[in-house]
Amino acid sequence: MASNVSELTTYKAYLQGEWKKSSSDETIAIQSPYLRKAIGYVQAVTQDEVDEAIKAAHKAQKSWAELSLSERGAYLDKWADELVNNSEDIATAIMQEVGKGFKDAKKEVVRTADLIRYTVQEALHMHGESLRGEGFPGGDQKKIGIVERAPLGVVLAISPFNYPVNLAASKVAPALMAGNGVIFKPATQGSISGIKMIQALDKTGLPKGVLSLTTGRGSVIGDYLVEHKGIDMISFTGGSGTGRHLSKQTAMIPLVLELGGKDPALVAEDADMDVAVKSIMNGAFSYSGQRCTAIKRVLVNEKVADELVDRLKSEIEKLTVGSPEEDSTIVPLIDDKSADFVQSLIDDALNKKATLVTGNKRQDNLIYPTLLDHVTEDMDVAWIEPFGPVLPIIRVKSDEEAIELANRSEFGLQASVFSQDIDRALDVARQVEAGTVQINGRTERGPDHFPFLGVKASGMGVQGIHHSILSMSRERVTVLNLK
Ligand code: NAP
Ligand code: G3P
Repeated sequence: MASNVSELTTYKAYLQGEWKKSSSDETIAIQSPYLRKAIGYVQAVTQDEVDEAIKAAHKAQKSWAELSLSERGAYLDKWADELVNNSEDIATAIMQEVGKGFKDAKKEVVRTADLIRYTVQEALHMHGESLRGEGFPGGDQKKIGIVERAPLGVVLAISPFNYPVNLAASKVAPALMAGNGVIFKPATQGSISGIKMIQALDKTGLPKGVLSLTTGRGSVIGDYLVEHKGIDMISFTGGSGTGRHLSKQTAMIPLVLELGGKDPALVAEDADMDVAVKSIMNGAFSYSGQRCTAIKRVLVNEKVADELVDRLKSEIEKLTVGSPEEDSTIVPLIDDKSADFVQSLIDDALNKKATLVTGNKRQDNLIYPTLLDHVTEDMDVAWIEPFGPVLPIIRVKSDEEAIELANRSEFGLQASVFSQDIDRALDVARQVEAGTVQINGRTERGPDHFPFLGVKASGMGVQGIHHSILSMSRERVTVLNLK
């Protein structure tokens, strides 16, 4: 349990390999969503400190990139071990900082260690290629092309609040393995978890300056980081609005954006209802729906809609609601503003005559799981990402209608299709505009080595271990011209 204010830790930023207080003398209080009080303070770093960190990263990156893949991999394997050794402490930080159940928080840390180890192995097996060829047809040159991967320079990694360790390491690890320097900007609520993650990396003896952790509000320091001439690539995960803003500020540097979603579950009349109910429940409500890949609307064939709604109602009313310290499924949302937003979507739907099946109950930033039936296209909750435990049911007459509604969304992260006819499911899946379509399963990013991408307002570029290493490096081509 968090100690009282006087004992609260003021965490330092990790700048050029040293833990330092910012010269701004300004700190940010990190509020716990369920303790509803500050649990620590982090530095608000200055633009000068950002400049110094980026300069140091460029300097250190040169020798870092000279190390062999296995030498770099040794640091990361040690990092993974350190994370596991400190998983209880880091999981407690995640739980207190973003309100994630302790078990899920611990799983996130272990999952991250696995991701880091997999990244090392993946990089070790990316051998490049050699090509043979002439010059232009009839040319007298005999050419051998050697294609290797080269680092981009300094990568800016910006992560969201809901996976403060996993979605940070999913950027930092491939960036480092590719031989880059890294500037890591965690979500403000997620900074303490990010600091503990980097403390584990620092313990490996990572060469000083290769990575800096610059804490600070995105609204204050974000633009300066993103527009900085010393940044060679940006890997961003967060809301679509922030992503759009960011993409307008950057020019001529590679950008990977993993953004918001409004993942639909398309339920055909021949769906295995046990599978559909289990997947929708887990997909829509785990961590109070605060997952980008959460199922955020159900497009169900009207022939089976009543059965589905009844079964979902009964399961929803069994969900545990309360504190992450008891590993409740439904926990307080990240802050009051987010809870207000979710409530506004529920109110709008009810004002427009949606049917309240269960829920619409609130205590501060704790929103009870809410199921809305007969949701129509004029209701905001049909289209807007709530990032909370509210699930709209939209009844459709056919697969075609479901596909049209799914594709009319500005988002295209993932979708789930439920049918016992695999040909039918594949046919529907291929028509849905999304990065990933799950058949007879919940929408989810894992496993972390699968490609992970959003289309339309859900993102740009591809994450996932292999693709992340590719996006944080470039081809280096050397051609031997033989006599
Ligand atoms: P967010 O508010 O967009 O913040 C994401 C990150 O961007 C945070 O580190 C934030 O810092 C930073 N930021 C804010 N303004 C910035 C600016 N002007 N320049 C640079 N960085 C800036 O998102 P969130 O609330 O943390 O996460 C929830 C959203 O992220 C949801 O929409 C969710 O769908 C999406 N998400 C997507 C994925 C995915 O993989 N597709 C995964 C997780 C979450 P501060 O915290 O200091 O504001
Ligand atoms: O919102 C975070 C996103 O990456 C979800 O991850 O594994 O819960 O689908 P996952």
